[in-house]
Amino acid sequence: MSADDQKRIAGEAAALRVEAGMKVGLGTGSTAAWFVRALAARNLPDLRCVPTSEATADLARELGLTLATLEDTPRLDLTVDGADEVGPGLALIKGGGAALLREKLVWEASDRCIVIADAAKVVKTLGAFPLPIEVVAFGHKTTGNRIADVLADHDITMPARVRTAERGLVRTDGGNLIYDARCGAITDPSRLADDLKLITGVVEHGLFLDLADEAIIGTDDGVEVLVP
Ligand code: 5RP
Repeated sequence: MSADDQKRIAGEAAALRVEAGMKVGLGTGSTAAWFVRALAARNLPDLRCVPTSEATADLARELGLTLATLEDTPRLDLTVDGADEVGPGLALIKGGGAALLREKLVWEASDRCIVIADAAKVVKTLGAFPLPIEVVAFGHKTTGNRIADVLADHDITMPARVRTAERGLVRTDGGNLIYDARCGAITDPSRLADDLKLITGVVEHGLFLDLADEAIIGTDDGVEVLVP
């Protein structure tokens, strides 16, 4: 089965967890998009959906889902979202799609969070995927130097690199920048998360710890459910 098929079956399985009348957080990325499509296909009455990015909002709107904001609905029943890595205890790296700030806000507003992924995303140690760190644009090089100091304190010698695309610096939906930290292996995710949050100029990082209640992983043999 291709990785995309694994993402699809994970998204479809997660859509079955949604009930009529729920307030649902919609993640961002190719796996979350499969969930959004499967959810729309169920045509459940009275759903209200809070998207975690403009891209997801566009897709959900196109498919006829009713959109809401965290201002309208500060508490959500369920959020379903993808991840870049799923580690032990369902510790995650997210933010490959540059939506980590809105994603974390929506996850933290949810009673239950389900992460969906293809099998290749499951790892024994977080850190092979570069850790995204969202920073404000003002003074970002200074912030980048302070991130490098924190990483060095965690024995990570590669400085984080500001994310670029063909048209220059990548901007998040909130207008911020992303630094990607090539950690290799993150031996103490919780301490790294705390240390990054203390840097002025860092808005959020892509370590999602103690947030996922369940993982639905698409594998060649069907979906596998993991709990923390
Ligand atoms: C976006 C994310 C995505 O969920 C993550 O990058 C996984 O993406 P995909 O499902 O396309 O592999 O965190 O910020």
